[in-house]
Amino acid sequence: MKKGLSLIVFFLLVHSVFAVEGMWIPTLLKKYNIEEMQKMGFKLTAEDIYDVNHSSMKDAIVLFGSGCTGEVISGDGLLITNHHCGFGQIQKHSTLSHDYLTDGFWAKNRSEELVNPGLSVQFLVRMEEVTTEVMKGIKEDLSDDIQKKQIAANIEAIKKGYSGKGTFQVDVKPLYYGNQYFVYVYEVFKDVRLVGAPPVSIGKFGGDTDNWVWPRHTGDFSLFRIYAGKNNKPAAYSPDNLPYRPKKFFPINMKGIREGEFTMVFGFPGTTQEYLPSMAVKLLIEKSNPNKVDARTIKLNILEKQMAKDPKVRIQYASKYAGISNSWKKWQGETNGLIRLKAVEKKQRDEIAFSKWIKQNSDREKKYGRILETFQQNYSELSEIQIAYDLYNETVLRGAEIFGLISRFDLMGQAISDTAKYPRLKKSLADFLPGYFKDYDAATDRQLLPALLKIYLERVDSKYLPAYANDQKSNLLNAEYSQSLFNKSIFSDSLKIKELLTNYNSKSIKKLQKDKLYLLFTALSSHFNQNIDPIYQKLSQAILKTQKLYMAAILEMKEGERLMADANLTLRVTYGKVEGFEPKDGVYYQYFTALKGMIEKQNPAIADYFVPEKLKQLYQAKDYGKYTNSTGEVPIAFCASNHTTGGNSGSPVINADGELIGVNFDRCWEGTMSDVLFDPERCRNIALDIRYALFIIDKFAGAGYLLEEMQLIK
Ligand code: ARG
Ligand code: GLU
Repeated sequence: MKKGLSLIVFFLLVHSVFAVEGMWIPTLLKKYNIEEMQKMGFKLTAEDIYDVNHSSMKDAIVLFGSGCTGEVISGDGLLITNHHCGFGQIQKHSTLSHDYLTDGFWAKNRSEELVNPGLSVQFLVRMEEVTTEVMKGIKEDLSDDIQKKQIAANIEAIKKGYSGKGTFQVDVKPLYYGNQYFVYVYEVFKDVRLVGAPPVSIGKFGGDTDNWVWPRHTGDFSLFRIYAGKNNKPAAYSPDNLPYRPKKFFPINMKGIREGEFTMVFGFPGTTQEYLPSMAVKLLIEKSNPNKVDARTIKLNILEKQMAKDPKVRIQYASKYAGISNSWKKWQGETNGLIRLKAVEKKQRDEIAFSKWIKQNSDREKKYGRILETFQQNYSELSEIQIAYDLYNETVLRGAEIFGLISRFDLMGQAISDTAKYPRLKKSLADFLPGYFKDYDAATDRQLLPALLKIYLERVDSKYLPAYANDQKSNLLNAEYSQSLFNKSIFSDSLKIKELLTNYNSKSIKKLQKDKLYLLFTALSSHFNQNIDPIYQKLSQAILKTQKLYMAAILEMKEGERLMADANLTLRVTYGKVEGFEPKDGVYYQYFTALKGMIEKQNPAIADYFVPEKLKQLYQAKDYGKYTNSTGEVPIAFCASNHTTGGNSGSPVINADGELIGVNFDRCWEGTMSDVLFDPERCRNIALDIRYALFIIDKFAGAGYLLEEMQLIK
């Protein structure tokens, strides 16, 4: 009886919905969120999170590269992010003789840290609403074009005003589809060095098999260090640069986490679309996602086979494979989730309520009365062309890499008489080639070409194909034929490619006209650029305009309510609780995983489940150091109900005291529809338990000296 009761209490505690939908704007927390956050257990203030006058959490968080988050964890600019965020850098430093993917990498001292040209991190200095400034001079009766130009001019002026004479990088971004604008001022550091990364058998344990899946045992972290000039300001790479001294860094909590405790994620979520109409969701579920998934299935099957055959190809294609597979899997989870939530029907019900609200008042009728009808019209036109658009992108532009290369030569050729653009394109192509060759396997690409052409030619309506492709269809559908185009092409021979670039002139274009693969690509691309893309862009613009009006109407209809703004790759706060979930009827997932689960998962038949010997030894000897949870196990990951999305990878997961408890790296597959529709019951973010990172650094890698610069809260 007693047991029964406490179980009920436990159930209520754990299963009452704590999740809060939304990615919130740091400057508006005080108005909309802090009270709720504190009720949920947060012990600090809104100013502790974001403040321009004093150091605050935002000063320890960066946009890492172009699409991840990282956080500073020492006074010497040490930064932690995900292994998959640093993957490109780790891979670039890897060769067969220095295989940092397989073996991991640990700089034994600062002079061994590896430089990463092209990598930057950005700290947000401040952000402000600038809607009035952006809208200056905009009147409803001006044409769309004039409005756009005026807005662009206003934005330029704002950027200039905030740039501190070029010291800062400034962005002005729309929120609520352009019903509001914010300015974001960043300090950009360009000397960011690789400090450490575990081997993929830890950093990517579970690989693509476990990607997006809970329970998870991935040690998805890597360490970098930000360097600055002697004045602690951003500086281009120089051996004389010094470790950056941040305004703030995160203390690391070693006391552990409990189910039900408050947690927040502070980072750079990329894109969400929570206000799409039903027609858009239908198109996504029925056409867009399935076609893209099928194209990628073809690519992945080929890459998988080739990578298994040859260790060199495995290294060359590791990063590409991960990138292709990631969205491929997410789209499938998203489709499932949206179908299960009956998202289309739910949106349709919302739209009926919306129509009723409009009909209550003739002003509204005038302003908003045609929104749904316009959407209907736009989306029915779009759905025709969507297949051609998606498959062109997946199978031609980002299909066989040889097409990507031809595309660059083609663009350069088109600019040959442009004295400014041509040298720039030529240089960028010259810079691009070494990396291209390093990670290119012609045998793999030769298989991709016919397989991807096939799905493109078979699925895209002939009215969206160039005459050349329609005439040659039966030839092109023959794999041997298209492979012969590949073999005979200049672009399959690295020496010829280099020579072509070095001696490029107006005659080169004539010569290329005889290359049948070049002709095929240019036929496909010019047809796409002239006949598909313009229609697609025009429809997208029309949809965006309708969506802006729809958003304005929703804001009016829900006035006084707190409405989240879609993510736009700017700094946001999301909060929830550490909690497990019920992925399907009859199954409950607990909120944490541990090393023993990784050991149980190991399976010699599945490469993703390989456990390195050293880790097994540590496990067998129970040599866990101080990195254990309350059951004496080494914790690996936990899940929580924070509303996150792509871009939040590497984000700090923070406890009620503002200490780092984890590093966000994924979302559970059953919840990936949260970019479109959030379900508090099933949407969970997945984080690395920070104690696992410490355990790996100290016990596995023997790099415990790195812990000395951290602030560990015991
Ligand atoms: N799903 C995560 C995110 O969206 C992690 C991706 C990297 N990991 C992988 N196994 N491909 O980016
Ligand atoms: N892995 C994702 C990223 O790279 C985060 C997971 C998500 O989409 O929520 O940003």
